[in-house]
Amino acid sequence: MKVSIFGSGYVGLITGIGLAKKGHKVILVDVDKKKVQKINKGIMPIYEEGVSKKDLKGIKATINPQEAVINTDISFICVGTPSMPNGMMNLNYVKKSAEAIAKALVVKNDYHVIAVKSTVMPGTTKNIVLPILKKHADNFGLCMNPEFLREGKALTDFLKPDRIVIGCLDKKAGSILKKLYSKFKAPIVITDLTSAEMVKVASNSFLATKISFINEIANICEKFGIDVEEVVKGVKLDHRISPHFLQAGAGFGGSCFPKDVKGLIDVAKKKKYIPNLLSTVMSVNEKQALRVLNFTGPVKGRKILVLGTAFKAGTDDIRESASIRLIHELIKKKAKTTVYDPQAMQNAKKVFGNKIKYAKSMKSGLKNQDLIIIMTEWPEFKKIKDLTNKPIILGRRILKPDGINIKAIGYT
Ligand code: UGA
Repeated sequence: MKVSIFGSGYVGLITGIGLAKKGHKVILVDVDKKKVQKINKGIMPIYEEGVSKKDLKGIKATINPQEAVINTDISFICVGTPSMPNGMMNLNYVKKSAEAIAKALVVKNDYHVIAVKSTVMPGTTKNIVLPILKKHADNFGLCMNPEFLREGKALTDFLKPDRIVIGCLDKKAGSILKKLYSKFKAPIVITDLTSAEMVKVASNSFLATKISFINEIANICEKFGIDVEEVVKGVKLDHRISPHFLQAGAGFGGSCFPKDVKGLIDVAKKKKYIPNLLSTVMSVNEKQALRVLNFTGPVKGRKILVLGTAFKAGTDDIRESASIRLIHELIKKKAKTTVYDPQAMQNAKKVFGNKIKYAKSMKSGLKNQDLIIIMTEWPEFKKIKDLTNKPIILGRRILKPDGINIKAIGYT
């Protein structure tokens, strides 16, 4: 099938690459000319583990929405929905994409399916996207098809999903999207637009809750002089709990969990419901990144190497990263901070400029430090044990702590 994808960020790009791998013809649409040029030259505009320029083969990119809509049967909206300071999601890019698609549909004058993939709060597709489309066009179908991929494992997650959720306004649109996914081996859940949106935010909120839950247990474990990982060994074997998302540490970051949980809190309050549990999930998480400081002693004037700025391994993304929050605090407390990350240094430089130092490698960064804090679980950081005898504090449990030279959240 012929598919256009509005937005070539992490979700749009991977959706495009994944659909092309399944034999569909893909056109990416983006407002960023430089990104479009890069894609057309076969250069990956982001770092994503396991995805390379060869995966862009056959994919075209354009800044022209009309060209993309006219030449395709389905348009996905995959643009960002960042959080605003009050927790509300910013829907400007979604609205602009819907408007561009709607105007192009007037010229196309043939049935077309629009599918929202961007994470949006319940009711958005029906109450915001649909009226924009209706203002200009009438011959279209509308779906909400959330994405569950994780950065760092994005393509595998896209190609081998646990489930495909299709919320649809009309049956015809739903069956066209179902056909698009016919080569995927996953259960397909067909539902309405708003339930599909809620499936996505409920899933992310549940996973975020699991992390804050285990972090709270970790913080209590410290008080009992026990190791949270010993506890998890026993807890995770209950099939109702499952072993996933029980890694305690510096808390969750990224472009999804914080934004989606805050967004759900915001819309719940607007509907006059106080979501106490979700508010606590966020407040546990906000404190968690700085808990490594419980193990450092005073940091003023001390030379500290922070290993990892990405919000997790396998990506160059630093959005809402626990490490970034920690570095801001170290700067505030006047520590002499150096950072190293194998992929996310450029992004870190954009945030901190010359307020901190940047090491070229883990090895060179280790010279003359008083203390090392590990904030991202990059596998290469495991070698650190052989390279230094300085105290190490683990925000991510990539080594076994001993409570003397290697200390960790959730261990005393
Ligand atoms: C998350 C979801 O896992 C995806 O299913 C979803 O599609 C995506 O959001 C999205 O909404 O687009 P992602 O943000 O890429 O994916 O990353 P995760 O692997 O879920 O990790 C999120 C954060 O939680 C990271 O900072 C990670 O270090 C932290 N985490 C994860 C923990 O602290 N403990 C764990 O046990 C697991």
